[in-house]
Amino acid sequence: MEKFIINGGNKLSGKIKVTGAKNHALKLIPAAILSEQVSIIKNVPEIEDVIKMFELVEALGGKVKKLKPGTYSIDPSTINKTAIPYDLGRRLRTSVMFIAPLLARFGEVKIPHPGGCMIGKRPIDMFIEGFKQLGARVVQEKDYYHLTAKSGLKGSKYIFRRVSVTVTEAMIMAASLAKGKTELVFAACEPEISSLADYLNKRGAKIKGAGTHAVEIEGVKELKGGEMTCIPDRIECGTFAIMGALLSDDLKITNCNPAHLEVFWVYLKKAGVNFEIGKDYVHILKRKGALQAIPDVITHEYPGLVSDLQAPLTVLLTQANGLSMVHETIFEGRLFYTDMLNRMGADIILCDPHRVVINGPSKLYGREIESPDLRAGIALLIAAMIAKGESKMANIYQIDRGYANIEQRLKKLGADIKRIDE
Ligand code: EPZ
Repeated sequence: MEKFIINGGNKLSGKIKVTGAKNHALKLIPAAILSEQVSIIKNVPEIEDVIKMFELVEALGGKVKKLKPGTYSIDPSTINKTAIPYDLGRRLRTSVMFIAPLLARFGEVKIPHPGGCMIGKRPIDMFIEGFKQLGARVVQEKDYYHLTAKSGLKGSKYIFRRVSVTVTEAMIMAASLAKGKTELVFAACEPEISSLADYLNKRGAKIKGAGTHAVEIEGVKELKGGEMTCIPDRIECGTFAIMGALLSDDLKITNCNPAHLEVFWVYLKKAGVNFEIGKDYVHILKRKGALQAIPDVITHEYPGLVSDLQAPLTVLLTQANGLSMVHETIFEGRLFYTDMLNRMGADIILCDPHRVVINGPSKLYGREIESPDLRAGIALLIAAMIAKGESKMANIYQIDRGYANIEQRLKKLGADIKRIDE
């Protein structure tokens, strides 16, 4: 099994380029099969989850071609299956994003209950409710959901009981090809959603209000193919900013869009991090004083503090002076990695599934650790990079799912990290 060996304490410096956004690419791929014409997707991150999504397109009979690094064409005209293979579907939560295009174009889809990060129960009840609202029939077989819409989907009004990023994206995709108008109430507002809607509109869809809580979609008969480019990965950008804040006096993060992280920068400033923000870069500079605790960190749907940066920010707060509290409002299982941080020397109390109190600063020591999920994994990697001594990290597949060849990129900045096969 592959592991990372990390020796902590090395200062970082230099430049690191942010890749295309994982959580945008994973939706643009299914969005390509809303049409039977070829689509091109650019700035695609070369990561495990994206590779799996391309495999899914091919498993359905579609054709995927790598035109050059980061640029792929998808030809959906040869798709001749509507059942998602069990093994792929189980391992990849975003397999659920194929329901909308398959249901809208072929009137039928079979999908295993999706797996994915263990950051909570991760139900798909709102997907099922949403598709039913658009006229689909849903039968839950043993391990599969079987959805049918033989006479096509019909526009309707769907009220989200809570904000959901992927359900919003799924409903926008499905409603684009439904008969009549669909109204989404309390939709998610992430920048990846606005960008998805822009691309679908360029391909003939009629979507208004994406990026706000109220979205209206006028269904059309078909969509054309087109060219789509992944926006910069805001989670990579924030992750590298935290690495810089802990280990660098001069780290420039390029090819990013800091405007997608406005609330995050307010938290970083409050913690005493010194940085300069440009249009497409962030420059982490030498800090003037110690890091400061923040007693009321709270994750929130966009534009609030993104849940995917909660774990890296918690690692930063273990090095801050004083008591911090982090309230993870989105997922009920996204704080359990803190027990591994405590094993490394942190002083964190898990108050309940949603809140931790962090007493800092605390010296961290290298340990045998493992990556419970993608974002906790990178947070523990950051902890190992600041810890004294050697850490060995297992289950690094979780990190490869979301961070393209991470050890090469960090080595270039000065980190002491290598991948071994044990
Ligand atoms: C997306 O997940 C992202 N994944 C997550 O990033 C991100 O953490 C999350 O949004 C919140 O920002 C992708 O875009 C591929 P939700 P998603 O539906 O859409 C509950 C990463 O590390 N819910 O917005 O799955 C759900 O359990 C990943 O890159 C239901 O109850 O999250 C959660 O508590 C992790 N029923 C809440 O809603 C449903 O049918 C919000 O989740 C769907 C969701």
